[in-house]
Amino acid sequence: MNAPHGTPGLAAVIVLAAGEGTRMKSSTPKVLHRIGGRTLVGHAIAAARAAGPEHLAVVVRHERDLVAAHVAEVDSGVVIADQDDVKGTGRATECALAVLPELEGTVLVTYGDVPLLAGDTLLALLDEHVRSSSAVTVITAHLDDPTGYGRILRDADGGVAGIVEQKDASDEQRAITEINSGIYAFDASVLRTALDEVGTDNAQGEKYLTDVLAIAREAGGHVSAHVVDDLWQTEGVNDRVQLARLGKELNRRTTERWMREGVTIVDPDTTWIDSDVTLGRDTTILPGTQLLGATTVGAEAVIGPDTTLTDTEVGDGAEVKRTEALLAVIGAGATVGPFSYLRPGTELGAKGKVGGFVETKNAKIADGAKVPHLTYAGDVTIGEGANIGAGTIFANYDGVAKHHTTVGKHSFVGSNSVLVAPVTVADGAYVGAGSAVTEDVEPGQIAVARGRQRNIDGWVARARAGTKTAEAAAAAPHHTEDSTEGQGQA
Ligand code: UD1
Ligand code: CA
Repeated sequence: MNAPHGTPGLAAVIVLAAGEGTRMKSSTPKVLHRIGGRTLVGHAIAAARAAGPEHLAVVVRHERDLVAAHVAEVDSGVVIADQDDVKGTGRATECALAVLPELEGTVLVTYGDVPLLAGDTLLALLDEHVRSSSAVTVITAHLDDPTGYGRILRDADGGVAGIVEQKDASDEQRAITEINSGIYAFDASVLRTALDEVGTDNAQGEKYLTDVLAIAREAGGHVSAHVVDDLWQTEGVNDRVQLARLGKELNRRTTERWMREGVTIVDPDTTWIDSDVTLGRDTTILPGTQLLGATTVGAEAVIGPDTTLTDTEVGDGAEVKRTEALLAVIGAGATVGPFSYLRPGTELGAKGKVGGFVETKNAKIADGAKVPHLTYAGDVTIGEGANIGAGTIFANYDGVAKHHTTVGKHSFVGSNSVLVAPVTVADGAYVGAGSAVTEDVEPGQIAVARGRQRNIDGWVARARAGTKTAEAAAAAPHHTEDSTEGQGQA
């Protein structure tokens, strides 16, 4: 992810992510929990990038190394700032400023645990901040239940006078329903100067970023509020109940976005689409489908029902039914399923077919080739137009190493065969049904590798006398007169 830099005047976005997140009750740091296929901090970075800052910093402390490594993986341009022993959002912001060059212009501060905040909202905040020539602009919202949040203090003229934390608020202040989202735009030099003045004399003994507002105002700056109606965008994740709630809403937004782009989603409630997935027009997604990771689906495809595709590429017009696929490529017009499992390295060509109850792994199946029923195809190359019979097993593992099998163009493998790798069936060759093929088959040959059939006359009458089977045999019209070994019925 490397979005363009350069929104004029936007010097930096600072993402605060040093907090512990104890209510998650998890050995994974809170900001590394995922919704929509991205970590919470991954969503925060995406929104920050979309705003186009010159610098982007993430403040870390709890599980510092894990979070920093993940952040670097998501976006190598992010500056990691370490928070020290002094607690509080103000200190966290100060620690970020300390590792960034001297900034001029606007600095936005956001949180690593507010995943639905959109880049557009940050740009609207910046716009309002610049238009109102404010020293500080804070995103606020009106909540029915403001418990726990900092409250916005307004003066008689309705101007923002400051923020008081729940724990420091009087009963009268606690009755205020306008809350601090924790997302702000600051003039860089006001922020720097004001943070110097912020102390820790409060109920939590922390250096509060919220104190910057009153300090900036006392210094003669204008402080304004950017009120948002879309409360989801300011909601943080504190526990797993909120994680699921915001995950569901994110998915609602993602499915709606794709429907507006021309994708039919029959049941958005049972369809899960990760944030990085892309879909083509007139594609239909049937119920119970999950499209995960970096999955891409072309136009006019039909996916589902009950299909999970992870990091999988599906071409135009393909149909994928009741299938699980991971790191697979499904060609244009190909059909897959029902009940099949495509593992990493599967590449199904255009108009190819992987039918019911088929497992593939590291399998290159060329255009128009068919693996229609009940097959395991591991470490194989299957040529154009080849047909693999029902129940074929590509035995790729000898207990020590994996080996490769090739089936050539327009070749035909009879049902219930085992191809013991390494082995090659050439172009235009056949394998007789029920064969265990261990030697290469040349063009134009048929390989038959099975016990020859023997029919033993009279066996049922002798060995199963008195059974219904014997009765049926006795009553059945016999054709054995034609046989040289025939024993006509008495
Ligand atoms: C903060 C605000 C409060 C606001 C609320 C919105 C302050 C003093 N209070 O409260 O007005 O209504 O957010 O959710 O700012 N963090 C750090 N380092 C720290 C402390 C926090 O990086 O030392 C990060 C956390 O990881 C988190 C964010 O800052 O992403 C907010 O921290 P949190 O403890 O949730 O703040 P609140 O007390 O909820
Ligand atoms: Ca919080």
